[in-house]
Amino acid sequence: MKQHLVIFDTTLRDGEQSPGASMTREEKIRVARQLEKMRVDVIEAGFAAASPGDFDAIQAIAQAIKDSTVCSLARANENDIRRAGEAIKPANSGRIHTFIATSPIHMEKKLRMAPDQVVEQAVRSIAWAREYTDDVEFSAEDAGRSDIDFLCRIFDEVIRAGATTINVPDTVGYNIPFQYAETLRQLIERVPNADKVVWSVHCHNDLGLAVANSLAAVLAGARQVECTINGLGERAGNASLEEIVMAVRTRGDVFPVETRVDSTQIVPASKLVSQITGYPVQPNKAVVGANAFAHESGIHQDGVLKHRETYEIMRAEDVGWSQNKLVLGKHSGRNAFRSRLQELGIELESDEVVNAAFARFKELADRKHEIFDEDLHALVSDEVVTPDQERYKLLYSHVCSETGEMPHAKVILSVDGSERKGEASGGGPVDATFKAIESIANSGAELMLYSVNAITTGTDAQGEVTTRLSKEGRVVNGNGADTDIVIASARSYLNALNKLHSSLDKVRAQGDI
Ligand code: KIV
Ligand code: ZN
Repeated sequence: MKQHLVIFDTTLRDGEQSPGASMTREEKIRVARQLEKMRVDVIEAGFAAASPGDFDAIQAIAQAIKDSTVCSLARANENDIRRAGEAIKPANSGRIHTFIATSPIHMEKKLRMAPDQVVEQAVRSIAWAREYTDDVEFSAEDAGRSDIDFLCRIFDEVIRAGATTINVPDTVGYNIPFQYAETLRQLIERVPNADKVVWSVHCHNDLGLAVANSLAAVLAGARQVECTINGLGERAGNASLEEIVMAVRTRGDVFPVETRVDSTQIVPASKLVSQITGYPVQPNKAVVGANAFAHESGIHQDGVLKHRETYEIMRAEDVGWSQNKLVLGKHSGRNAFRSRLQELGIELESDEVVNAAFARFKELADRKHEIFDEDLHALVSDEVVTPDQERYKLLYSHVCSETGEMPHAKVILSVDGSERKGEASGGGPVDATFKAIESIANSGAELMLYSVNAITTGTDAQGEVTTRLSKEGRVVNGNGADTDIVIASARSYLNALNKLHSSLDKVRAQGDI
C-alpha cells in the first residue's frame, strides 16, 4: 500500500514573491479554483498580515474553495497569527502556517534573538494558532543551514505545543540531495513523537536542486512537498509541482507514495499561471514546456512512431496536453460560452462582465474560426478587471506603418470615464502606440519587460503580450491578447497601468509612501 504524499501548493504565496508576479484578488481566485480542480491537498493562499489586499484574497479563497485545505502564512507573532486565523475562518478546512528562523546567521543577524527566545516564541505561536484551527504547520526558516540538534529541540517543543505538520525549508537553496535527505532521516529518527506529525519539505532552486532535494527527502520519509506551478517563487523559484507529481507517478517503482493530483489538469494550470503572472514557460521546461513532448531527431521520431515508449516516459495527454481542443465557434451562444467558462473553473462575477467577455468572444470568433480553451483564458484575463482598477480603457487605436516612414499611432482612451486622445511616433508600431498612451497617461513608469507569445498555433493565433512596469518600488505585469499584436500590446500596457495605479493608490491609502 502506498502512503499519501501531501501536495502543498504555494504559487499564491511564495510564487507571488517573484518580482512582478503579483496577482489581483480575482486572478488569485481563478488560480485557486484551478488548483482545487487539480486536487491539490493544501493551497497556501497568501500571507494575511502582509496587507489588507492579501487578507481579503485569502478570505475570498477560503470562501470559494471546498475540497482543498486553505492555508495562510504567518510570522511567529500574535498579530500575524490572529490575522491568518481570521482570514481562513470561512474555509471548510483551514490551516495556519507559522514560521521563525532557526539558523545561527538568521537568529543572530536578522532576528537578534537568542536560541532560547526563538524556541519560546515558536511555542507561544503554536498555542495562538491552535485557538483557530487544529491544523497548524510550523516551519523552521533556513532549516537547511540550521544546527540539527537545535532543530530537534525546537521541533520537539512545537509538536508538544500542538503543531501537526513540521516543515524543514531549504530557504536559500543551499542543500545537496543526499545531505538534505540525511537531515530529514535524522530528524524523523530523533525527534520525539515524529510519527504523530507530517514531515514536510520546502526547497528553493538556487542551485537548480529544488526538485531533486524534495524527492530525496520523500525517500527519507517526508510526506508533504511544498511546491509551485512552473516552479515560480522567490529568486530562482521553488520546486515545481508538475515535476514532483510526475516523478512520483512515473517512478512508482522507486517512490513508496502517491498523490491525489489529477495530472491532466497540470498543463491548464501551468498556462493559467503563466498567463496571469506574465512569466513565460521555457520551451524545454520538463512536463509543461512546449517542447516537452516534441521529438526533433529523425531517429527519435522514427522510434516514437514505431513504439511510443522508445523515447517517451510519460504520455502528453496524461499531463493535459491533448486538451488543446476546439471548444466554441462563431455560432456558439451566451449559455454555451458561460458553461464552458464554468468547466474551466472561471466564475465571472457579474452579468455585466459576462456580457463584455461574450461580446469580445463574438468579435474574436469573427476573426479566428477556431477558439481554444487558451483563447478563452486570455480573453477572460482581459475582461476580469475590477472597476477600481479600470482607470484606463482602450476605445480606439490606429497605427500607420510603412517602409521608410516612422510609424505613427493615434489612440483614444477612456480615463476615469472621459474620452482623451493622444498620438505619437515611435521606433515601431508598438513603441508609437505606447508613446501615444503615455502622451495621455504621463505615468512616469519604467517599462521593464515587453514580451509576445502566440497562444495557439497558426497565423491567426492570438498574440499574448506581457508588459512589466515599475514605479516607486512597485512592479506590476499587464497582460493583453488579440489577433492584432498592436492592440494586444496596447491592452497589455493599459492593464499594467491600471494595476500600477490601483496598487499605488492602496499603498498611499495605507500611508506607506
Ligand atoms: O523559504 C522559506 O523558508 C519559506 C518559509 C516561509 C516556509 O518560504
Ligand atoms: Zn520559500
